[in-house]
Amino acid sequence: MERSFVFCLVFICFLVPATVADWNILKQKTHNGVKISLKNYCESWRINVELHNIRDFQVVPEECTEYIGKYVRSTQYSVDSERTTEECLVYLSTSCNLKKDGQDAWIFDIDDTLLSTVPFYKNNLGKKINVTALEEWMSKGKAPALDYSLRLFNEIKSRGIQIILISGRREYLRSATIDNLVNVGYYGWTSLILRDPANELASVAEYKSQVRKHLTSNGYRIWGILGDQFSSFEGNPSGIRPFKLPNPMYYIA
Ligand SMILES: *[C@@H]1O[C@H](CO)[C@@H](O)[C@H](O)[C@H]1NC(C)=O
Repeated sequence: MERSFVFCLVFICFLVPATVADWNILKQKTHNGVKISLKNYCESWRINVELHNIRDFQVVPEECTEYIGKYVRSTQYSVDSERTTEECLVYLSTSCNLKKDGQDAWIFDIDDTLLSTVPFYKNNLGKKINVTALEEWMSKGKAPALDYSLRLFNEIKSRGIQIILISGRREYLRSATIDNLVNVGYYGWTSLILRDPANELASVAEYKSQVRKHLTSNGYRIWGILGDQFSSFEGNPSGIRPFKLPNPMYYIA
């Protein structure tokens, strides 16, 4: 009797408010009074992440984890991403006066740019990132290639542009990262820059901008960057054309 009373209290205090919260989202209206569905709500969350209006989010909002999980496994996500890589090629063909002296360069991120972390986030959306679990997963080297990025990578390589990979992955993951990249078809890059433990106090944006400064001071002309985070493009040197792939799964400053 007493136990079922406690159960009821727990139910009323925790479960009922949770369903009420969900119900509120479903019944939510825009400020103009337009009734919206959960899908509308989550899609506008997603697009505002990509527009960089929503920043520094810790996790995907709980009510949108299912929607975002579906999106990153959908044809739409592939089409959105492939459009990004096609625009890179348009830019390279129309706006880049390559010197072909070994100093033309292009920068790629790794995670969710060349390799997909969707298999890891499938069970981890909406949860605070457990870095140990993520790095354990990375160390297995089983991340699949994003095929549109692989095509762009090969196209850029065939144009004689030096490929520089800059990742927030830590240095100790170097051999697992190389194995993973090569196993899914990426090879022939000029340089793979991972994060030195001494550098971990800087933000990812600062770290990546320091690397770019170093590259340009060594004479590289960086024509573009393909990445999935705004922190891949921020800071100096500026004037480099950024191409952002969609990534509503996490935010790295
Ligand atoms: C993080 O992941 C590791 C490895 O899978 C696990 O041992 C640990 O308990 C996790 N930590 C939290 C807070 O979930």
